[in-house]
Amino acid sequence: MLKKHKTLGEFIIENQSAFQYTSGELSKLINAIRLAAKVVNHEVNKAGLVDILGAAGDTNIQGENQQKLDVMANEKFIQTLKNREIVCGIASEEEDDFITINSSDDNHQNKYVVLIDPLDGSSNIDVNVSVGTIFSIYRRITPVGTPVELKDFLQKGREQVAAGYIVYGTSTMLVYSTGAGVNGFTLNPALGTFYLSHPDMEFPESGKIYSVNEGNYVHFLQGVKDYIKYCQEEEGDRPYTSRYIGSLVSDFHRNMIKGGIYMYPKSNIAENGKLRLLYECNPMAYLAEQANGLASDGFGRILDIEPTELHQRVPFFCGSKNMVKKLHECIAKHA
Ligand code: AHG
Ligand code: MN
Ligand code: MN
Repeated sequence: MLKKHKTLGEFIIENQSAFQYTSGELSKLINAIRLAAKVVNHEVNKAGLVDILGAAGDTNIQGENQQKLDVMANEKFIQTLKNREIVCGIASEEEDDFITINSSDDNHQNKYVVLIDPLDGSSNIDVNVSVGTIFSIYRRITPVGTPVELKDFLQKGREQVAAGYIVYGTSTMLVYSTGAGVNGFTLNPALGTFYLSHPDMEFPESGKIYSVNEGNYVHFLQGVKDYIKYCQEEEGDRPYTSRYIGSLVSDFHRNMIKGGIYMYPKSNIAENGKLRLLYECNPMAYLAEQANGLASDGFGRILDIEPTELHQRVPFFCGSKNMVKKLHECIAKHA
């Protein structure tokens, strides 16, 4: 029997009426992200056709088609948010500096800034493996009516008002939180509609999956090495299973559903790891905590870190509570 699933549109409207004194700006912003997600999904889906279409269309002097997909995703997201005149500023992993948005009729009246990793896991595009988009939303701290400043973007992760990701996988899903749990919506591509398929997503307390680029093993801190050995030992419910897609969004998504830990430690070759605090770690940490999981840099909570620059990197450990706690024990032994 067919079950009636709520659409993302319906869900946003319902949520909006729960906050009766808000202006609806955040709802409009989530709506704009929903639209951008559909546009990028369409492009990502035909990634494998780029060469074929490029060769066939001699009226089309390439350019757009051949653009790298992460540049394309960046432009689509920024353009959609700009067109809807819904944010006062955007920072993106693909841009050196933040973008100030002064919409036509309102002179910097919007109160939210958005930070995005437009295409996460870009090394997976060529090989037809899942990629994603990550977004993070803050209320500006400078007064409305003035242009945004760097400090509007350098807020602690715990100040986020919403965060989420889109995973362009075997199905396309949009997963997000506005601070009252995490909900996942699956796109029906025939209709272009997202349906609430995964209400109230939560990390299982414990899991059996660890996700890390073990090629860097020799460079990890001793505590991290010990934890990896712990995952591999034969004892109780161990050894755990190793799964690493190389696309944070997809690795996180799987671990949240099945139970697991994602790790991108610092190493002798990458002093602060690889992942970006503002575009990757903070939004994923916010979702993790909203979903009963934990996220840390190996010592403390990701969401408490005071950012100092837009493209700052931090070590990142995130997932099922008991797994992150065990990792902390291992690291503390060598501190
Ligand atoms: P991006 O494609 O936005 O640069 O991010 C890739 C990130 C992350 O998604 C992934 O988990 C990690 O880099 C993989 O790095 P390694 O190839 O070093 O394992
Ligand atoms: Mn990324
Ligand atoms: Mn990226």
